[in-house]
Amino acid sequence: MKILNLGALNIDRIYQVEHFVEPKETIKAVAYEELCGGKGLNQSIALAKAGADVYHAGCIGQDGEMLVNLLREYGVKTDYLRYSTGPSGHAVIQVNAAGQNNIIICGGANDEVTDLYIDEVLADFSREDMILLQNEIPNVDYAIRKAHERGMKIVINPSPVNQALETYELLSIDYFILNEVEGKYLSGKESDRPGEMMEGLREKFPQAAFILTLGENGAYYFDAKDCVYQASYQVEAVDTTGAGDTFSGYFLAGLVQGRGIEECLRRASMAAALAVSRHGAAPSIPDLQEVNEILEQEKKRR
Ligand code: RIB
Repeated sequence: MKILNLGALNIDRIYQVEHFVEPKETIKAVAYEELCGGKGLNQSIALAKAGADVYHAGCIGQDGEMLVNLLREYGVKTDYLRYSTGPSGHAVIQVNAAGQNNIIICGGANDEVTDLYIDEVLADFSREDMILLQNEIPNVDYAIRKAHERGMKIVINPSPVNQALETYELLSIDYFILNEVEGKYLSGKESDRPGEMMEGLREKFPQAAFILTLGENGAYYFDAKDCVYQASYQVEAVDTTGAGDTFSGYFLAGLVQGRGIEECLRRASMAAALAVSRHGAAPSIPDLQEVNEILEQEKKRR
């Protein structure tokens, strides 16, 4: 099964800070780096590192060479990438001393994903294939409709959540990958409790399966009848940026490789934990060999 990931590619401008800047305050960054990111790019790299056959589609600008080079370095197929005459998308990211982040994204070339472009790309994919979407590009709703018409499996990580989501044909989605904010919003429940979110999500989208990630509180897979829980692997947080993307890519790669849900969750959780213990988004995604080795050691310790 081929995976088409239609998503954003960003240059991440990362400011290491003691604390997040407050209104009216000016602070000095402790360190600054420019690294590859974007939820789309990060998830493609995680998929590829976990052994999946992944095609990345999306738009980059004149300054996007580092983005395309990184995708190619890990074996992501870049034939469908479109080049803009303007700048690439970027993100302004503050990472505080506790490793937490806050992020502003600026669309740039990502905003040039048009219906026509989506049609051109989808023409090469069929019901044998899977499409992965996030919510950082325009026309996600169109991509869902067209991918559904082609019979593709559809996976959405609706991040960042916004009101436009309500207008998407979410009853065509096969898998939702959600964090607690997205889970709460889409469940329609005013509750942070996983059980209530699950109930709301199952009611609203009975056709779908869900992966609900709760950071240090673990992750759930559930569908209309099953529910599997995986605890998080505890690590010292250096930078949480891209950890969710790492989880998504590793989980999906496991799924298309035909692994059981328990194993998919275990590998994704370990990969995300390793990502949290390192700087950056895309650069923090671990290799499969490392993930497997540490899981083996874990098993022996038990
Ligand atoms: O999920 C992390 C990503 O969100 C960053 O790489 C940034 O570019 C934003 O898209």
